[in-house]
Amino acid sequence: MSKVVAVVGATGAVGREMLRTLERRRFPVSKLIALASARSAGQKLPFGDGAVEVQELGPSSFASVDIALFSAGASVSREYAPIAAKAGAVVIDNSSAWRMDPSVPLVVPEVNPEAALTRPLGIIANPNCSTIQMVVALKPLHDAARIKHIVVSTYQATSGKGQAAVEELQAQLVSIGRGEQPEARVFPAQMAMNVLSDWKPGELGYSEEELKLVNETRKILGDPEIVVTPTCVRVPVVTGHSESIHVQFHRPLTAAEACELLRAAPGVVLTEGEYAPGKEPQPLAAADTDPVYVGRVRADLGVPGALNLWVVADNLRKGAALNAVQIAEVLT
Ligand code: A2P
Repeated sequence: MSKVVAVVGATGAVGREMLRTLERRRFPVSKLIALASARSAGQKLPFGDGAVEVQELGPSSFASVDIALFSAGASVSREYAPIAAKAGAVVIDNSSAWRMDPSVPLVVPEVNPEAALTRPLGIIANPNCSTIQMVVALKPLHDAARIKHIVVSTYQATSGKGQAAVEELQAQLVSIGRGEQPEARVFPAQMAMNVLSDWKPGELGYSEEELKLVNETRKILGDPEIVVTPTCVRVPVVTGHSESIHVQFHRPLTAAEACELLRAAPGVVLTEGEYAPGKEPQPLAAADTDPVYVGRVRADLGVPGALNLWVVADNLRKGAALNAVQIAEVLT
């Protein structure tokens, strides 16, 4: 049955991708309601054969909405997700606001789709982009050998920080090309030709982003004993997060076994073969595509039975909009 779908934050980097994803996957939308701040009210966004006019988000935005996809930041979600749920919508929230609430399922459809069916608050959380691609790649290995410890280093694209961040990176590159000093307003320092840690501080010297990888991975895989050692950095890429992952198991796993599992894993595209420069999964090639690309599956050189992997995915698609729409598909 067709659904009335609201997208909150429809003008943003993820919101626009949500509209495209609903269309591309032919999600049965009877009516699309595009919501954003007062700044964008009246703006037209392409959808279907025509366009939808953006409306200002308000308490009465959700009458008759079946599914509300939120991607307008945590404070908007904290305030409006309960309002949307009370109005009868199922909320699928891309922000961090509700992810660790024990009454809110945190769902990656390739990993724990059944969790989406129990949602006492009417809210389902979409995990952090870096967590999603990591758990899609690690789930089949966890099922086979139970993960003990993950050491993950991320190389995250600027679109994960929103549209304004992408525009600042592009402006910085233009300034550098002209021999001018680039300006940094959205980023805490120059992003072009640099690598930054640009997330809010968390605890114990880790950023909030790093702690999301720890806590969300445990919640989605349903194993609070998994140790996650994270380092997150931003690289001057527009779209596509990359991750270097070292993983230790309760029982040893060979690279050949892991490849066999990954070949059959839903949502995964495995790059196999000997190391060859330029043949590994890359963000530029992953951008505007759906899969989680896994490559460079290697036995660790020092820890017997442990593996090293290179994992790349489009952070706006599988890392955000696609995962949210796949959750909506679980509900239909
Ligand atoms: P707007 O474009 O009107 O500012 P991004 O992550 O790319 O920065 O996008 C954030 C999205 O969240 C945009 O669609 C933005 O709308 C929306 N947004 C931000 N703050 C609010 C708010 N207070 N109410 C409604 N939408 C908001």
